[in-house]
Parts: sequence; structure tokens; C-alpha cells
Amino acid sequence: MRKIAVFSLLMFALSFSHEVESELNFKQVMQLVNQSATKMLQGFLLGNDAMVLEGAREIAEHPVPKGGPLRYIDPSKREEFMRFMPAFEKQVHGGAEEVMKFLREGKRDQAFKTYTNMLQGCIACHELFRDRIGGR
Ligand code: HEC
Repeated sequence: MRKIAVFSLLMFALSFSHEVESELNFKQVMQLVNQSATKMLQGFLLGNDAMVLEGAREIAEHPVPKGGPLRYIDPSKREEFMRFMPAFEKQVHGGAEEVMKFLREGKRDQAFKTYTNMLQGCIACHELFRDRIGGR
């Protein structure tokens, strides 16, 4: 009984984690998070919290590219990618979650600051790994 409970809890957690693999390739995942980041900006500009929250949730739960991200990274850069990945995850996904938290607390200024910091995570990863993609 207990095993079943643990198992269903695990399946529940897995199905809601952003680690769920998708049918999208890396570029398609990026196009999605790009739309979400833009949605967040628009929400801030219009003072529309629901819009910011929607974009932030999409980023926090974004799908993993088919086969995992590593296979899209040039083999010579894979080790570096693995090393940097946790920091980018934290800055981007963690940032999106923090934006949601601040907004729910009514702290729009802090939410926006965290949003710009989140974007710096996107940019930092691009500086290191964009245009260094191997085969799909
Ligand atoms: C872990 C590293 C990493 C992070 C973090 C990251 N990106 Fe990317 N991004 C890439 C790589 C690598 C590519 C190149 C993908 C390709 O060309 O297949 C890319 C490509 C893109 C593209 C171009 C897609 C196209 O059509 O050519 C956009 C737009 C983009 N990312 C937006 C974002 C946004 C917005 C964020 C933050 C919310 C973000 N990325 C976070 C690594 C990252």
C-alpha cells in the first residue's frame, strides 16, 4: 500500500516537473520560452499580472527537448554545458518561479527586477552555446 502511495506520488511529481521530455527539438523549445518571456514583458508593460504569471509558469515548466538537451550541443561543448546547466536552470526556472512568488505577494518591482535577471540567464547561455549546435 505504502509502495503504491510512493509510486503514485512519484508519477504525480514527474508529470508536473519540467523534466518531462517532449517531441520538440531544442530550437522549438527555445521559440516557446521566447514567446513566454515576451508574454511576461507584455504583462509587465500592461500591469497585467495574470499575463506575467502565465508566461512565468510556462518557463518554469517548459518541456525538455526530445532526447534531452545535450545531444543538440556540439560534442566539444557538452562537458561545459553540463557544468553550467545547473546555474542557468536556477537563474531561468528559479527566476520564473520567484517572479510568480513576488507577484502573488503584490511586489511588482521585485518581480520585474527578477524578470530582468532571468533574461540575463537566457543571454548568458546564448553567449556560451548558441550557434554551437550539433546535428539534430
Ligand atoms: C541552457 C542554455 C540556454 C538557456 C538558459 C536559454 N537558451 Fe535560448 N538558446 C540556447 C541555444 C543553444 C540555442 C540555439 C538553438 C538552435 O539553434 O537549435 C538557443 C536559441 C534561442 C532562440 C532562437 C531560436 C530560433 O528560432 O533560432 C531564442 C529566441 C531563444 N533561445 C530564447 C531564449 C529565452 C527567451 C531564454 C530564457 C527564458 C533562453 N533562450 C534560455 C540555449 C539557451
